[in-house]
Amino acid sequence: MSDILLRDAAKHAGETVTVKGWTFNVRSSGAIAFLQLRDGSGFVQAVVKKDVVSPESWTAATDATIESSAIVTGTLKADPRSASGFELQASEVALVSKAGEYPIGKKEHGPDFLLDQRHLWIRAARQQAILRVRSEIEQAMRDFFYERQFTLTDAPVFTPAACEGTTDLFEVAYFEDKAYLTQSGQLYLEATAAALGRVYTFGPAFRSEKSKTRRHLTEFWMLEAEAVFIDQEENMKLQEELVAYVVKRVLERRADDLKTLERDVTLLEKCTAPFPRLSYDEAIKKLQELGSDVKWGDDLGADDETILTKQFEKPVFIYGYPTEIKAFYMKPDPKNPKVALNADLLAPEGYGEIIGGSQRIDDLQLLEKRIEAHKLPKESFQWYLDLRRYGSVPHSGFGIGLERTVAWICKLDHVRETIPFPRLLNRIQP
Ligand code: 4AD
Ligand code: MG
Repeated sequence: MSDILLRDAAKHAGETVTVKGWTFNVRSSGAIAFLQLRDGSGFVQAVVKKDVVSPESWTAATDATIESSAIVTGTLKADPRSASGFELQASEVALVSKAGEYPIGKKEHGPDFLLDQRHLWIRAARQQAILRVRSEIEQAMRDFFYERQFTLTDAPVFTPAACEGTTDLFEVAYFEDKAYLTQSGQLYLEATAAALGRVYTFGPAFRSEKSKTRRHLTEFWMLEAEAVFIDQEENMKLQEELVAYVVKRVLERRADDLKTLERDVTLLEKCTAPFPRLSYDEAIKKLQELGSDVKWGDDLGADDETILTKQFEKPVFIYGYPTEIKAFYMKPDPKNPKVALNADLLAPEGYGEIIGGSQRIDDLQLLEKRIEAHKLPKESFQWYLDLRRYGSVPHSGFGIGLERTVAWICKLDHVRETIPFPRLLNRIQP
Protein backbone atom coordinates (compact mmCIF):
# COMPACT_ATOMS: atom_id res chain seq x y z
CA MET A 1 0.00 0.00 0.00
CA SER A 2 1.43 3.38 -0.92
CA ASP A 3 0.46 7.05 -1.04
CA ILE A 4 0.06 8.12 -4.63
CA LEU A 5 -0.68 11.23 -6.64
CA LEU A 6 -3.62 10.73 -8.94
CA ARG A 7 -1.66 11.92 -11.95
CA ASP A 8 0.29 8.64 -11.59
CA ALA A 9 -2.85 6.49 -11.37
CA ALA A 10 -1.98 4.52 -14.52
CA LYS A 11 1.23 3.28 -12.91
CA HIS A 12 -0.72 1.87 -9.96
CA ALA A 13 -3.65 0.13 -11.64
CA GLY A 14 -4.70 -2.90 -9.63
CA GLU A 15 -2.75 -1.83 -6.53
CA THR A 16 -3.97 -0.84 -3.10
CA VAL A 17 -3.21 2.85 -2.77
CA THR A 18 -3.90 5.81 -0.51
CA VAL A 19 -5.17 9.10 -1.91
CA LYS A 20 -5.06 12.30 0.15
CA GLY A 21 -7.21 15.16 -1.02
CA TRP A 22 -10.66 16.69 -1.05
CA THR A 23 -14.13 15.39 -1.81
CA PHE A 24 -15.38 17.76 -4.50
CA ASN A 25 -18.62 15.91 -4.82
CA VAL A 26 -20.40 13.38 -2.61
CA ARG A 27 -23.46 11.19 -3.05
CA SER A 28 -24.76 8.18 -1.22
CA SER A 29 -27.73 5.88 -1.59
CA GLY A 30 -28.50 3.06 0.73
CA ALA A 31 -25.39 1.06 1.48
CA ILE A 32 -23.13 2.71 -1.12
CA ALA A 33 -21.40 6.11 -1.17
CA PHE A 34 -19.58 7.82 -4.03
CA LEU A 35 -16.84 10.31 -3.20
CA GLN A 36 -15.39 12.35 -6.04
CA LEU A 37 -11.82 12.90 -4.92
CA ARG A 38 -9.28 15.38 -6.18
CA ASP A 39 -5.73 15.73 -4.92
CA GLY A 40 -4.49 18.66 -7.01
CA SER A 41 -2.93 16.37 -9.58
CA GLY A 42 -6.01 14.50 -10.75
CA PHE A 43 -9.46 13.13 -10.01
CA VAL A 44 -10.97 9.77 -9.16
CA GLN A 45 -14.28 8.46 -7.93
CA ALA A 46 -14.06 6.43 -4.73
CA VAL A 47 -16.79 3.85 -4.22
CA VAL A 48 -17.46 3.05 -0.57
CA LYS A 49 -19.60 0.03 0.34
CA LYS A 50 -21.08 -0.22 3.80
CA ASP A 51 -20.57 -3.97 3.98
CA VAL A 52 -16.90 -3.71 2.95
CA VAL A 53 -15.54 -0.93 5.18
CA SER A 54 -15.47 -0.49 8.96
CA PRO A 55 -18.32 1.39 10.67
CA GLU A 56 -15.88 4.33 11.23
CA SER A 57 -15.04 4.46 7.53
CA TRP A 58 -18.70 4.28 6.58
CA THR A 59 -19.54 7.17 8.93
CA ALA A 60 -16.66 9.19 7.47
CA ALA A 61 -17.86 8.53 3.92
CA THR A 62 -21.45 9.52 4.63
CA ASP A 63 -20.36 12.53 6.70
CA ALA A 64 -18.17 13.92 3.93
CA THR A 65 -19.44 17.18 2.45
CA ILE A 66 -18.36 19.07 -0.64
CA GLU A 67 -14.70 20.15 -0.21
CA SER A 68 -14.07 18.15 2.97
CA SER A 69 -10.49 16.91 3.18
CA ALA A 70 -10.15 13.16 3.31
CA ILE A 71 -7.76 10.22 3.09
CA VAL A 72 -9.04 7.22 1.20
CA THR A 73 -7.33 3.84 0.82
CA GLY A 74 -8.54 1.33 -1.69
CA THR A 75 -7.90 -0.71 -4.81
CA LEU A 76 -7.40 1.29 -7.97
CA LYS A 77 -9.36 -0.41 -10.75
CA ALA A 78 -9.19 0.59 -14.39
CA ASP A 79 -12.67 1.75 -15.43
CA PRO A 80 -13.02 2.92 -19.01
CA ARG A 81 -16.50 4.36 -18.28
CA SER A 82 -15.24 6.91 -15.77
CA ALA A 83 -13.77 10.26 -16.80
CA SER A 84 -10.48 9.59 -15.01
CA GLY A 85 -10.21 6.06 -16.38
CA PHE A 86 -10.13 4.60 -12.87
CA GLU A 87 -12.28 3.87 -9.89
CA LEU A 88 -11.05 3.62 -6.31
CA GLN A 89 -12.75 0.72 -4.46
CA ALA A 90 -12.41 1.98 -0.92
CA SER A 91 -11.32 -0.14 2.02
CA GLU A 92 -10.74 2.76 4.44
CA VAL A 93 -12.03 6.34 4.60
CA ALA A 94 -10.97 9.02 7.09
CA LEU A 95 -12.07 12.63 7.17
CA VAL A 96 -9.28 15.09 7.90
CA SER A 97 -11.58 18.08 8.15
CA LYS A 98 -15.28 18.27 7.42
CA ALA A 99 -16.17 21.31 5.32
CA GLY A 100 -19.06 23.62 6.13
CA GLU A 101 -21.64 24.36 3.46
CA TYR A 102 -19.62 25.22 0.36
CA PRO A 103 -20.47 28.62 -1.15
CA ILE A 104 -19.88 27.59 -4.76
CA GLY A 105 -22.62 25.31 -6.00
CA LYS A 106 -23.31 23.53 -9.22
CA LYS A 107 -25.64 26.27 -10.43
CA GLU A 108 -24.37 29.14 -12.58
CA HIS A 109 -22.77 31.97 -10.63
CA GLY A 110 -22.06 35.47 -11.94
CA PRO A 111 -18.44 36.59 -12.43
CA ASP A 112 -18.51 39.00 -9.48
CA PHE A 113 -19.63 36.29 -7.09
CA LEU A 114 -16.97 33.91 -8.38
CA LEU A 115 -14.27 36.57 -8.14
CA ASP A 116 -15.30 37.26 -4.54
CA GLN A 117 -14.82 33.53 -3.97
CA ARG A 118 -11.61 33.35 -5.99
CA HIS A 119 -9.70 31.65 -3.14
CA LEU A 120 -12.17 28.75 -3.47
CA TRP A 121 -13.07 29.08 -7.15
CA ILE A 122 -9.49 28.11 -8.14
CA ARG A 123 -10.32 24.58 -6.89
CA ALA A 124 -12.73 24.06 -9.82
CA ALA A 125 -11.48 21.71 -12.53
CA ARG A 126 -11.51 24.42 -15.19
CA GLN A 127 -9.60 26.87 -13.05
CA GLN A 128 -7.04 24.23 -12.12
CA ALA A 129 -6.52 23.51 -15.82
CA ILE A 130 -5.94 27.19 -16.58
CA LEU A 131 -3.42 27.53 -13.75
CA ARG A 132 -1.54 24.45 -14.92
CA VAL A 133 -1.38 25.83 -18.46
CA ARG A 134 -0.14 29.14 -17.03
CA SER A 135 2.60 27.33 -15.14
CA GLU A 136 3.60 25.41 -18.27
CA ILE A 137 3.79 28.64 -20.27
CA GLU A 138 5.99 30.29 -17.63
CA GLN A 139 8.27 27.27 -17.52
CA ALA A 140 8.46 27.07 -21.31
CA MET A 141 9.39 30.75 -21.54
CA ARG A 142 12.16 30.30 -18.98
CA ASP A 143 13.43 27.17 -20.74
CA PHE A 144 13.45 28.96 -24.09
CA PHE A 145 15.73 31.68 -22.79
CA TYR A 146 17.84 29.30 -20.73
CA GLU A 147 18.48 27.15 -23.80
CA ARG A 148 19.55 30.26 -25.70
CA GLN A 149 21.87 31.27 -22.87
CA PHE A 150 20.09 34.46 -21.89
CA THR A 151 20.88 35.44 -18.30
CA LEU A 152 17.92 36.03 -15.98
CA THR A 153 18.40 39.42 -14.32
CA ASP A 154 15.61 40.43 -11.95
CA ALA A 155 14.45 44.04 -12.17
CA PRO A 156 13.36 46.20 -9.23
CA VAL A 157 9.68 46.71 -8.41
CA PHE A 158 10.16 50.12 -6.74
CA THR A 159 11.21 52.57 -9.44
CA PRO A 160 11.97 56.30 -9.45
CA ALA A 161 10.38 57.06 -12.86
CA ALA A 162 8.07 55.94 -15.65
CA CYS A 163 9.05 53.58 -18.45
CA GLU A 164 5.80 53.36 -20.41
CA GLY A 165 4.30 56.84 -20.00
CA THR A 166 3.34 58.80 -16.92
CA THR A 167 -0.44 58.46 -17.03
CA ASP A 168 -0.81 55.06 -15.42
CA LEU A 169 1.79 55.03 -12.65
CA PHE A 170 1.03 53.69 -9.19
CA GLU A 171 2.67 56.00 -6.70
CA VAL A 172 3.77 54.65 -3.33
CA ALA A 173 5.31 56.35 -0.31
CA TYR A 174 8.99 55.50 -0.04
CA PHE A 175 10.07 56.79 3.38
CA GLU A 176 10.32 60.59 2.94
CA ASP A 177 10.28 60.19 -0.80
CA LYS A 178 7.91 58.74 -3.34
CA ALA A 179 8.38 55.85 -5.73
CA TYR A 180 6.36 54.10 -8.42
CA LEU A 181 5.57 50.45 -8.84
CA THR A 182 7.32 49.27 -11.98
CA GLN A 183 5.48 49.40 -15.30
CA SER A 184 8.24 47.45 -17.01
CA GLY A 185 11.75 46.22 -16.23
CA GLN A 186 13.02 47.26 -19.63
CA LEU A 187 15.25 50.19 -18.71
CA TYR A 188 17.05 48.02 -16.16
CA LEU A 189 17.33 45.21 -18.67
CA GLU A 190 19.05 47.56 -21.08
CA ALA A 191 21.66 48.10 -18.36
CA THR A 192 22.08 44.39 -17.60
CA ALA A 193 22.24 43.69 -21.36
CA ALA A 194 25.23 46.04 -21.60
CA ALA A 195 26.82 43.92 -18.85
CA LEU A 196 25.77 40.41 -19.94
CA GLY A 197 24.75 40.68 -23.59
CA ARG A 198 21.51 38.69 -23.65
CA VAL A 199 19.20 38.99 -20.69
CA TYR A 200 15.61 38.58 -19.61
CA THR A 201 13.46 39.32 -16.62
CA PHE A 202 10.15 37.87 -15.52
CA GLY A 203 8.19 39.78 -12.97
CA PRO A 204 5.04 41.65 -12.09
CA ALA A 205 4.24 44.97 -13.76
CA PHE A 206 1.76 47.53 -12.49
CA ARG A 207 -0.38 49.96 -14.43
CA SER A 208 -3.17 52.06 -13.02
CA GLU A 209 -5.00 51.82 -16.31
CA LYS A 210 -8.56 53.00 -15.97
CA SER A 211 -9.57 50.67 -18.76
CA LYS A 212 -12.20 48.12 -17.88
CA THR A 213 -11.53 45.65 -20.67
CA ARG A 214 -11.07 41.94 -21.08
CA ARG A 215 -7.34 42.48 -21.60
CA HIS A 216 -6.27 44.75 -18.78
CA LEU A 217 -5.15 43.95 -15.26
CA THR A 218 -3.62 46.55 -12.96
CA GLU A 219 -1.04 43.95 -11.91
CA PHE A 220 0.18 41.52 -14.54
CA TRP A 221 3.24 39.41 -15.27
CA MET A 222 5.54 40.17 -18.11
CA LEU A 223 8.57 38.45 -19.51
CA GLU A 224 10.95 40.93 -21.06
CA ALA A 225 14.05 40.15 -23.07
CA GLU A 226 16.83 42.41 -24.28
CA ALA A 227 19.79 41.61 -26.51
CA VAL A 228 22.74 43.66 -27.73
CA PHE A 229 23.78 43.88 -31.36
CA ILE A 230 20.44 42.68 -32.66
CA ASP A 231 18.15 44.79 -34.79
CA GLN A 232 14.36 44.86 -34.94
CA GLU A 233 14.29 42.14 -37.62
CA GLU A 234 16.21 39.70 -35.42
CA ASN A 235 14.11 40.82 -32.47
CA MET A 236 10.92 39.75 -34.27
CA LYS A 237 12.51 36.40 -35.17
CA LEU A 238 13.27 35.78 -31.52
CA GLN A 239 9.67 36.62 -30.61
CA GLU A 240 8.10 34.29 -33.15
CA GLU A 241 10.42 31.47 -32.13
CA LEU A 242 9.46 32.04 -28.49
CA VAL A 243 5.72 32.05 -29.14
CA ALA A 244 5.88 28.96 -31.39
CA TYR A 245 7.99 27.17 -28.75
CA VAL A 246 5.55 27.99 -25.95
CA VAL A 247 2.48 26.90 -27.92
CA LYS A 248 4.15 23.63 -28.97
CA ARG A 249 5.10 22.90 -25.36
CA VAL A 250 1.54 23.45 -24.11
CA LEU A 251 0.14 21.25 -26.88
CA GLU A 252 2.61 18.50 -25.97
CA ARG A 253 2.42 18.62 -22.20
CA ARG A 254 -0.96 20.10 -21.28
CA ALA A 255 -3.22 18.35 -23.77
CA ASP A 256 -5.45 17.08 -20.95
CA ASP A 257 -5.94 20.57 -19.59
CA LEU A 258 -6.75 21.97 -23.03
CA LYS A 259 -9.31 19.19 -23.29
CA THR A 260 -10.83 20.14 -19.92
CA LEU A 261 -11.06 23.68 -21.29
CA GLU A 262 -12.66 22.35 -24.50
CA ARG A 263 -10.04 24.28 -26.43
CA ASP A 264 -10.16 23.63 -30.18
CA VAL A 265 -6.43 23.33 -30.94
CA THR A 266 -6.62 23.46 -34.76
CA LEU A 267 -5.18 26.97 -34.97
CA LEU A 268 -2.69 26.42 -32.15
CA GLU A 269 -1.26 23.52 -34.13
CA LYS A 270 -0.63 25.89 -37.03
CA CYS A 271 1.22 28.36 -34.84
CA THR A 272 4.70 27.86 -36.28
CA ALA A 273 7.32 30.44 -37.22
CA PRO A 274 7.50 32.58 -39.30
CA PHE A 275 4.49 34.76 -38.54
CA PRO A 276 2.97 37.17 -41.07
CA ARG A 277 4.09 40.79 -40.89
CA LEU A 278 1.97 43.79 -41.75
CA SER A 279 3.18 47.38 -41.66
CA TYR A 280 1.19 49.87 -39.62
CA ASP A 281 0.38 51.67 -42.91
CA GLU A 282 -1.01 48.46 -44.39
CA ALA A 283 -2.91 47.73 -41.20
CA ILE A 284 -4.60 51.14 -41.28
CA LYS A 285 -5.57 50.65 -44.93
CA LYS A 286 -6.91 47.19 -44.26
CA LEU A 287 -8.92 48.40 -41.25
CA GLN A 288 -10.40 51.26 -43.27
CA GLU A 289 -11.40 48.79 -45.99
CA LEU A 290 -13.06 46.70 -43.32
CA GLY A 291 -15.11 49.69 -42.20
CA SER A 292 -13.12 51.06 -39.23
CA ASP A 293 -12.83 54.86 -38.90
CA VAL A 294 -9.22 54.61 -37.67
CA LYS A 295 -6.82 57.17 -39.22
CA TRP A 296 -3.05 57.19 -39.75
CA GLY A 297 -1.55 58.40 -36.47
CA ASP A 298 -4.06 56.67 -34.20
CA ASP A 299 -3.01 53.86 -31.92
CA LEU A 300 -4.86 50.66 -32.70
CA GLY A 301 -7.75 50.09 -30.31
CA ALA A 302 -8.75 46.70 -29.00
CA ASP A 303 -11.54 46.48 -31.57
CA ASP A 304 -9.17 47.27 -34.43
CA GLU A 305 -6.78 44.58 -33.20
CA THR A 306 -9.61 42.07 -32.98
CA ILE A 307 -10.72 42.82 -36.55
CA LEU A 308 -7.14 42.56 -37.83
CA THR A 309 -6.29 39.28 -36.12
CA LYS A 310 -9.42 37.65 -37.50
CA GLN A 311 -7.79 38.02 -40.95
CA PHE A 312 -4.96 35.65 -39.98
CA GLU A 313 -4.67 32.14 -38.64
CA LYS A 314 -1.30 32.79 -36.97
CA PRO A 315 -0.16 35.60 -34.73
CA VAL A 316 0.66 38.68 -36.82
CA PHE A 317 3.28 41.40 -36.37
CA ILE A 318 2.19 44.97 -36.96
CA TYR A 319 5.41 46.94 -37.40
CA GLY A 320 6.41 50.56 -37.90
CA TYR A 321 3.93 52.49 -35.74
CA PRO A 322 4.05 56.29 -35.79
CA THR A 323 6.95 57.39 -33.56
CA GLU A 324 4.73 60.03 -31.97
CA ILE A 325 2.33 57.56 -30.34
CA LYS A 326 4.96 55.17 -29.05
CA ALA A 327 7.29 55.07 -26.04
CA PHE A 328 10.20 57.54 -25.84
CA TYR A 329 12.94 54.90 -26.16
CA MET A 330 11.89 53.43 -29.51
CA LYS A 331 14.31 54.05 -32.36
CA PRO A 332 12.84 55.98 -35.27
CA ASP A 333 13.40 54.26 -38.61
CA PRO A 334 16.41 56.07 -40.18
CA LYS A 335 14.74 55.69 -43.61
CA ASN A 336 11.49 57.25 -42.38
CA PRO A 337 11.77 58.75 -38.87
CA LYS A 338 7.99 59.26 -38.70
CA VAL A 339 7.71 55.59 -37.86
CA ALA A 340 9.48 53.54 -35.21
CA LEU A 341 11.51 50.34 -35.53
CA ASN A 342 8.95 48.55 -33.45
CA ALA A 343 6.28 45.90 -33.66
CA ASP A 344 3.36 44.60 -31.68
CA LEU A 345 2.54 40.93 -31.99
CA LEU A 346 -1.21 40.32 -32.16
CA ALA A 347 -2.55 36.90 -31.23
CA PRO A 348 -5.17 35.31 -33.50
CA GLU A 349 -8.82 34.51 -32.78
CA GLY A 350 -9.47 38.09 -31.77
CA TYR A 351 -7.00 38.25 -28.87
CA GLY A 352 -4.88 41.18 -29.99
CA GLU A 353 -1.58 42.46 -28.62
CA ILE A 354 0.46 40.01 -26.59
CA ILE A 355 3.93 41.44 -27.28
CA GLY A 356 5.31 44.95 -27.58
CA GLY A 357 8.89 45.29 -28.74
CA SER A 358 11.35 47.58 -30.50
CA GLN A 359 14.87 48.51 -31.34
CA ARG A 360 16.05 51.11 -28.82
CA ILE A 361 17.50 54.55 -29.45
CA ASP A 362 21.28 54.18 -29.10
CA ASP A 363 22.18 57.82 -29.83
CA LEU A 364 22.65 59.97 -26.72
CA GLN A 365 21.45 63.29 -28.16
CA LEU A 366 18.36 61.82 -29.75
CA LEU A 367 17.45 60.00 -26.55
CA GLU A 368 17.85 63.23 -24.54
CA LYS A 369 15.51 64.98 -26.96
CA ARG A 370 12.91 62.24 -26.68
CA ILE A 371 13.01 62.32 -22.88
CA GLU A 372 12.44 66.07 -23.04
CA ALA A 373 9.65 65.78 -25.63
CA HIS A 374 7.88 63.25 -23.40
CA LYS A 375 8.27 65.65 -20.43
CA LEU A 376 9.99 62.97 -18.37
CA PRO A 377 12.10 64.03 -15.35
CA LYS A 378 15.63 64.27 -16.78
CA GLU A 379 17.37 63.71 -13.45
CA SER A 380 15.79 60.27 -13.04
CA PHE A 381 17.09 59.19 -16.44
CA GLN A 382 20.76 60.15 -16.04
CA TRP A 383 21.74 56.59 -15.22
CA TYR A 384 19.83 55.37 -18.30
CA LEU A 385 21.57 57.95 -20.48
CA ASP A 386 24.91 56.65 -19.12
CA LEU A 387 24.21 53.49 -21.12
CA ARG A 388 24.55 55.68 -24.24
CA ARG A 389 27.55 57.59 -22.84
CA TYR A 390 29.61 54.50 -22.11
CA GLY A 391 29.78 52.11 -25.01
CA SER A 392 26.37 52.50 -26.63
CA VAL A 393 25.44 49.67 -29.01
CA PRO A 394 22.45 48.87 -31.19
CA HIS A 395 20.08 46.73 -29.13
CA SER A 396 16.49 45.53 -29.13
CA GLY A 397 14.02 43.81 -26.89
CA PHE A 398 10.41 43.08 -26.15
CA GLY A 399 7.89 42.26 -23.45
CA ILE A 400 5.28 39.49 -23.61
CA GLY A 401 2.26 39.68 -21.33
CA LEU A 402 1.74 36.36 -19.56
CA GLU A 403 -1.98 36.73 -18.86
CA ARG A 404 -2.87 37.69 -22.42
CA THR A 405 -0.85 34.73 -23.67
CA VAL A 406 -2.68 32.39 -21.28
CA ALA A 407 -6.06 33.87 -22.27
CA TRP A 408 -5.32 33.22 -25.94
CA ILE A 409 -3.88 29.73 -25.56
CA CYS A 410 -6.76 28.68 -23.28
CA LYS A 411 -9.25 30.72 -25.34
CA LEU A 412 -10.75 32.55 -22.36
CA ASP A 413 -13.13 35.48 -22.54
CA HIS A 414 -11.26 37.58 -20.00
CA VAL A 415 -7.78 37.82 -18.47
CA ARG A 416 -9.26 37.70 -14.97
CA GLU A 417 -9.24 33.88 -15.04
CA THR A 418 -5.60 33.63 -16.12
CA ILE A 419 -4.02 34.61 -12.80
CA PRO A 420 -4.71 33.13 -9.35
CA PHE A 421 -5.73 36.47 -7.82
CA PRO A 422 -6.59 39.10 -10.42
CA ARG A 423 -6.16 42.79 -9.66
CA LEU A 424 -8.62 44.86 -11.65
CA LEU A 425 -9.77 48.48 -11.76
CA ASN A 426 -12.38 47.78 -9.08
CA ARG A 427 -10.97 44.71 -7.37
CA ILE A 428 -8.12 43.93 -5.00
CA GLN A 429 -10.04 41.28 -3.02
CA PRO A 430 -9.43 38.55 -1.99
O1 4AD B 1 3.51 47.01 -24.89
P1 4AD B 1 3.99 47.16 -23.48
O2 4AD B 1 3.53 48.33 -22.70
O3 4AD B 1 5.59 47.14 -23.59
C1 4AD B 1 6.45 47.33 -22.56
O4 4AD B 1 6.20 47.42 -21.40
C2 4AD B 1 7.89 47.31 -23.01
N1 4AD B 1 8.71 47.99 -22.00
C3 4AD B 1 8.32 45.88 -23.23
C4 4AD B 1 9.75 45.79 -23.68
O5 4AD B 1 10.03 46.15 -24.81
N2 4AD B 1 10.64 45.33 -22.83
O6 4AD B 1 3.63 45.84 -22.66
C5 4AD B 1 4.08 44.58 -23.10
C6 4AD B 1 2.98 43.55 -22.99
C7 4AD B 1 1.74 43.85 -23.82
O7 4AD B 1 1.91 43.46 -25.15
C8 4AD B 1 0.70 43.03 -23.10
O8 4AD B 1 0.78 41.67 -23.47
C9 4AD B 1 1.13 43.16 -21.67
O9 4AD B 1 2.49 43.50 -21.66
N3 4AD B 1 0.34 44.18 -20.97
C10 4AD B 1 -0.70 43.91 -20.16
N4 4AD B 1 -1.27 42.76 -19.78
C11 4AD B 1 -2.31 42.81 -18.92
N5 4AD B 1 -2.82 43.96 -18.41
C12 4AD B 1 -2.25 45.16 -18.76
N6 4AD B 1 -2.73 46.28 -18.22
C13 4AD B 1 -1.16 45.16 -19.66
N7 4AD B 1 -0.38 46.13 -20.21
C14 4AD B 1 0.51 45.51 -20.99
MG1 MG C 1 2.09 47.81 -26.12
